[in-house]
Amino acid sequence: MSPIIETRHLSKKFGGIVVANDIDFTLHGGKVMGLVGPNGAGKSSLVNLICGTVPADSGEVLLHGRAITGLTAYQRARSGIARTWQNIRLFPSLTVLDNIVVAAREYSGERIGSIFRERRGGDSALVDAAMHQLSRVNLQDYAHHLPTELSIGRQKLASLARALMNEGECLFLDEPVAGVEGRVYETLKELIRQEAAKGNAVCIVEHNISFIEDLCDHCVFMFNGTLVSEGTVADLKRDTQLTELYFGRHE
Ligand SMILES: Nc1ncnc2c1ncn2[C@@H]1O[C@H](COP(=O)(O)OP(=O)(O)O)[C@@H](O)[C@H]1O
Ligand SMILES: [Mg+2]
Repeated sequence: MSPIIETRHLSKKFGGIVVANDIDFTLHGGKVMGLVGPNGAGKSSLVNLICGTVPADSGEVLLHGRAITGLTAYQRARSGIARTWQNIRLFPSLTVLDNIVVAAREYSGERIGSIFRERRGGDSALVDAAMHQLSRVNLQDYAHHLPTELSIGRQKLASLARALMNEGECLFLDEPVAGVEGRVYETLKELIRQEAAKGNAVCIVEHNISFIEDLCDHCVFMFNGTLVSEGTVADLKRDTQLTELYFGRHE
């Protein structure tokens, strides 16, 4: 099966720091890929390069074989590439519901007034769709709260609902379960499984190796801006050099 996302020779430096060194990375539909490695390895930067929030120095990002490297972040989002952020980044002055509504691919900024009027009328298809995503993460009762009124775990769920509102084929989650446990942890796992079962490509950046192990058939290990190894979590754990670089800290 042909990949949904590919990068070819993707490279980026910040000053003297190489955050992406000739990265060839592939995501397939129906699969959850783990992206692991120590802090500062360049994992979030790789997500940013693919999603377009950081421009590449060189190399290409392909969506279904078509180069999207010249597209802006919002154009890539409109092409069906959705993501969450390591530091959550919900819009603080919008309600939880409005945070989800504005993420719809068909949402147009110019229509913001009419969206909110429609919402008050209760007949907006986008509001219904946003409420559907909120109910998937069990946050329907928090729709009219501000994000800061929610726990960190619930904010993470709301940020996942915002990404799901894209209804795209490709989902990047940057540390979805950092600081999360219990029911929220299980909800996140179940929703990620559902997205892959629909045929979508999911990529998880995460330090919680058991979360990666439960969800990912395959993962890649990043270090100093370079993809140094790939395989199952078990394969990576068997590699003594990687164990020293990373896994040793968890044993
Ligand atoms: N916008 C930026 N400007 C300068 N340096 C950055 C920027 N973003 C990330 N970095 C640096 O790039 C390196 C990789 O960061 P990051 O991609 O966040 O790593 P990870 O997500 O693996 O922890 C770090 O040394 C970080 O300080
Ligand atoms: Mg990061």
